[in-house]
Amino acid sequence: MCLEGFLRGQFRRLLTQEACIALERRIPLLESRFQDIDEFGLYLHVPFCRQICPYCPYNKEAYRSEVAERYTKAVIKEIEFYSELIGSKPVTSFYIGGGTPTTMLHGGLDKILDHIFRVFNVQCDIHLESHPNDLSLDNLNTILSMGVQHLSIGVEALQDKHLKTLNRPYTVEEVTAAVERAVGRDFKCVNVDVMFALPGQTCREIEDTGHALVEMGVDQVAAYPLFRFPYTKMGEAAKGTGSNILKREKMLSILETIFYDAGFERTSVWAFTRPGVSKYCSVTVPLYVGLGASGSSYLKDVFYLNTFSVAEYIKALENGKLPIALALDLSARMQMAGWLYWRIYETRFDKTSFKRRFGKDFDRFYGRYVKPLALLGFLKDDGEQIVLSDRGTYWLHALEDLFSIQYISKLWGTSKQEPWPEKVVL
Ligand SMILES: C[S@@+](CC[C@H](N)C(=O)[O-])C[C@H]1O[C@@H](n2cnc3c(N)ncnc32)[C@H](O)[C@@H]1O
Ligand code: SF4
Repeated sequence: MCLEGFLRGQFRRLLTQEACIALERRIPLLESRFQDIDEFGLYLHVPFCRQICPYCPYNKEAYRSEVAERYTKAVIKEIEFYSELIGSKPVTSFYIGGGTPTTMLHGGLDKILDHIFRVFNVQCDIHLESHPNDLSLDNLNTILSMGVQHLSIGVEALQDKHLKTLNRPYTVEEVTAAVERAVGRDFKCVNVDVMFALPGQTCREIEDTGHALVEMGVDQVAAYPLFRFPYTKMGEAAKGTGSNILKREKMLSILETIFYDAGFERTSVWAFTRPGVSKYCSVTVPLYVGLGASGSSYLKDVFYLNTFSVAEYIKALENGKLPIALALDLSARMQMAGWLYWRIYETRFDKTSFKRRFGKDFDRFYGRYVKPLALLGFLKDDGEQIVLSDRGTYWLHALEDLFSIQYISKLWGTSKQEPWPEKVVL
């Protein structure tokens, strides 16, 4: 077994006390679980893109208008199913991701949103992912008129040669103009996604990128190192080349300096936000329902996942069946480990929120790990709040990556190949 695999096994046992984690093909009992939840997050997955990028791990296929039309009807059926379970309980977080949601801007997204607003008690802003090539002035008006207040744009790089390597279909000049158009409109937050530690990328290029983004006036930057998922084209090509963990740390620290100097605050492991701006983020409440192909849902003690196949998702709903493919019951320890994972991602948390969620004392469960991490300068613990330092944020997340990249690759990779897998062991 490789060192990574060994470490992964040790941490899994330490945090969850599970020898293995296995998702199985079944539909969990839902009615009783929905009864004891007071508020929900909503995630909608749009699995279409105009072109497929060689590094991208997400569930997507090439956009076809006739498929998008049937997909719209299927999603509306899935909404109908959940409307009975959720009733008038508030939806307090709503995120539309993909794929590329803006492919459906004139092909069904408006109908889906109308339906969501009709049947759910939505009490929150909408957060939407977009592709730069979809951001004409007309389209920005359409997005605003749909009620989207938080917009994210996949910029990825600000050097033409890197855009080319990533197979992104625009130039630096074009993407800059798209961002500036969006920044000039009435969104509460415009986020841009960029990637770093790209093949052949220099620290100087990352520095230029950081400064250019600040100058464009964006409200938030989410800067991710390029992860190489083994089932993507770039991941396959990079097999056996080893990880560039130190290059990533260096480049992230360059970006940290630029964004802090410009007055931004760190709002998650990879995101920096201007102060006073309400941050762009995925679902923020702990319990959520995922709609669409590959949509995942988390309801206290169960996690489940829809089929990844768009054709099978549509077929299931057209035949009056649920599109749920895999489910995992979560032990108390697994729920706590999941909770901690997300809090590390957000870089700070209160111990009372752990007590509120689990009725247990945080220090009793995790105190013995927190003390040495505080001594190493990875975090500060004032007795009530835990705040990760920049160094701690990076290294704890590098540790989390040991799990997430492997788990995501296994779960998403298998689900991409088999629409209804019998079992996936993580
Ligand atoms: C769903 S895409 C964004 C919206 C749109 N589909 C686009 O590409 O412009 C979400 C973001 O994930 C990030 N991403 C995708 N693949 C990645 C990878 N292999 N490593 C790191 N970040 C990645 C990119 O920054 C991308 O903008
Ligand atoms: S990065 Fe965005 S546009 Fe490219 S394939 Fe992934 S979801 Fe689609």
